[in-house]
Amino acid sequence: MSNAFKDMKPEERVITALDCTREEALELAGKLVGEAVWFKVGMTLYYAEGPVVVRELQDLGFKVFLDLKFHDIPHQVRGAARSAVLSGADMITMHTVGGVEMMAKAVEGAAEGAREAGREDPVTLGITVLTSMDADALASTGVTRPVTEQVRAMAQLAKEAGLSGVVASPQEAAMLREVLGPDAYIVTPGVRPAGAALGDQKRVATPAKAVADGASHIVVGRPITQADDPVAAFRAIVDELR
Ligand code: C5P
Repeated sequence: MSNAFKDMKPEERVITALDCTREEALELAGKLVGEAVWFKVGMTLYYAEGPVVVRELQDLGFKVFLDLKFHDIPHQVRGAARSAVLSGADMITMHTVGGVEMMAKAVEGAAEGAREAGREDPVTLGITVLTSMDADALASTGVTRPVTEQVRAMAQLAKEAGLSGVVASPQEAAMLREVLGPDAYIVTPGVRPAGAALGDQKRVATPAKAVADGASHIVVGRPITQADDPVAAFRAIVDELR
């Protein structure tokens, strides 16, 4: 278990992914006031509703992981990171293949936004290799080394650029913890409590296994959002981590 995260409460490790409408998101968030700490807003919700939904979640007292996966020229990404933080994001993502300069500019823009808003610097995360890509898909883009090697190399770039950590599959968490050291954020989706429906996730780990392998945070969507009792589902995951 890492140093920076060893005293973290289990509920702080669980990020609920809101892949739904704004109304559904706010209804669920309302039920989890006093229970959950983090929500993830992805592109589908953000591009429909914009920064308003980030502020609304923040106003309810939550931290927001704004998962927009920036990838553009450094100047543009710097501005995007600043704007995201000004809108209330506490955690942001970018593609590591954008390169060290792009990532470093994102960190700079994020810090600037945080200063302007009088808030803490946000968590900055790199996407190494999309888990939807296998070796063949990667090779078709010109990347011919094994997927794990690419993940490792991209994580090292993220570290060099000064990011807080990476998003990764639970299968990569142990290797990444070794590469990035004890204080890096390692945020893993693809998490399913024992017995939960897999949906379209193929390679999954339980919450406890993901954290034991080195994840600092886990992203859980449908097992919470589509449960008959989302509050009970959230609590069960927190209990598993306790
Ligand atoms: O509903 P579920 O738990 O599968 O949701 C997982 C969340 O994490 C979704 O928002 C999904 O887009 C995201 N994600 C993922 N796998 C990745 C990267 C992100 O499932 N490799």
